[in-house]
Amino acid sequence: MSQTRANFHTPRHALLRAKITRIRRQETDSATFRRVLAEIGAILASEALRDLPETTAAIETPVSRMEAPVLTQMEPCLVAILRAGLGLLEGARMVLPDAPVGHLGLVRDEQTLTPSEYVVRLPKDLARRGALVLDPMLATGGSAIQAIHRVKQAGAKVVRFACVVAAPEGVAALQAAHPDVAILAGALDERLNEHGYIVPGLGDAGDRCFGTE
Ligand code: PRP
Ligand code: URA
Repeated sequence: MSQTRANFHTPRHALLRAKITRIRRQETDSATFRRVLAEIGAILASEALRDLPETTAAIETPVSRMEAPVLTQMEPCLVAILRAGLGLLEGARMVLPDAPVGHLGLVRDEQTLTPSEYVVRLPKDLARRGALVLDPMLATGGSAIQAIHRVKQAGAKVVRFACVVAAPEGVAALQAAHPDVAILAGALDERLNEHGYIVPGLGDAGDRCFGTE
């Protein structure tokens, strides 16, 4: 079942759901986790950007002329929240190969669950392009809120956020902090546990992606 609340959407997409199940399984090894996460990134980027404004242009195919759909704006920038967002980015770049890429390094303190920033590298034309921010996990929402704050500070006026698994707590926090941002989640899970992990979730996405468990 797909779910849509104000600015929050989980797509009804059997292939996406099956791939998410694959990376949830604890026996999935790191190489498979990374590959499937990239595949999920391609699907999520396509879904998150399915309503980009378009028009038509006259083109010639090898067979005839036609009025064919084209985008009216430049593709949005992709912004990966490090580390785990790099896994999604790989697939998102398959569908948006010309999009510039920003990197935001954020890491959660294990006790306070507050993110701290260790790198900011953002494209210069965010104001003209808008941004799709990528992170597999939306847990407390602290990292996404901070990342989107940075992206807006750098000039982005239209910001979308895509994740693989979201906790209700993170969705509520992100909606409250950035009500204008469209949130796309592959799955909406039950809750956070006492360590700030999503339940049932998939564990630590960064560690599983980079084999640092
Ligand atoms: C994980 C995840 C998100 C963040 C989500 O990153 O990839 O960025 O936690 O949690 P939040 O919604 O409570 O902020 P982590 O800080 O573990 O860094 P890593 O990707 O380098 O492992
Ligand atoms: N970060 C993760 O990687 N997993 C969670 O469940 C929560 C935060």
